[in-house]
Amino acid sequence: MDKLLYTGKVKKMWATADPEVLRVEYTDIATAGNGAKKDHFAHKAELNHTISTLIFKYLGQNGVPNHLIKSISERESLVKKCDMFPLEVVTRNVAAGHFSTRYGLGEGKVFPTPVEELFFKSDELDDPLMNESDAIALGILNHEEHETIWKISRQVNQLLSDLFDRAGMQLVDFKLEFGKTHDGQIVLADEFSPDNCRLWDKKTKDHLDKDVYRRDLGDLTTVYEEVLKRLENVEEA
Ligand code: C5P
Repeated sequence: MDKLLYTGKVKKMWATADPEVLRVEYTDIATAGNGAKKDHFAHKAELNHTISTLIFKYLGQNGVPNHLIKSISERESLVKKCDMFPLEVVTRNVAAGHFSTRYGLGEGKVFPTPVEELFFKSDELDDPLMNESDAIALGILNHEEHETIWKISRQVNQLLSDLFDRAGMQLVDFKLEFGKTHDGQIVLADEFSPDNCRLWDKKTKDHLDKDVYRRDLGDLTTVYEEVLKRLENVEEA
């Protein structure tokens, strides 16, 4: 029986017989507002796991180092064990969400170059915004590691903006998390799903991400199924 290491807001991490390998299990839970809102959606685990696996495989095939080893069931994957940086690495192509509220803007302004933001991952402090020198001062990473996570984030933005564009969606913004493997390599970890990015329909600008849940705009499962269907159609094309 594998040992449960950690229960996150929407995923569980299990140890395996191999000390360098963990098993990640997706759950049907959705949360918003740092856990203030929480609900269950049947099949959300399978949807996010399938979407994230498809995207991590695509990124891996295109040279982005990441933690995925393989998917082992509809809602579980084996991943490389990582020492995680306590950071949320956010890239924004279009004004939305907290960027819009912070600067008193409407949503939809396309930025001339992507906005890059770091947040300190801390539920108690509500994930405060931080800059590179804050992160270095706190001993979270060094300058070279900071360069590496942004180099990978920019590569992810280019690859996924193109992939989602081909699937009829605009990649508005997204959050990545990074870790270090036992041999010191910095890799993309966590997940990439409509839970941690904003996707708008290219034509109608309809929300195809967790904002439908955050803002009570529609049914989360229907929207996530639509995202998966569009991605699978691109993959097959
Ligand atoms: O809320 P905000 O506008 O800062 O979110 C920017 C992007 O980061 C969104 O795609 C959101 O889904 C993602 N995010 C996340 N987890 C958080 C905060 C933001 O996945 N804790």
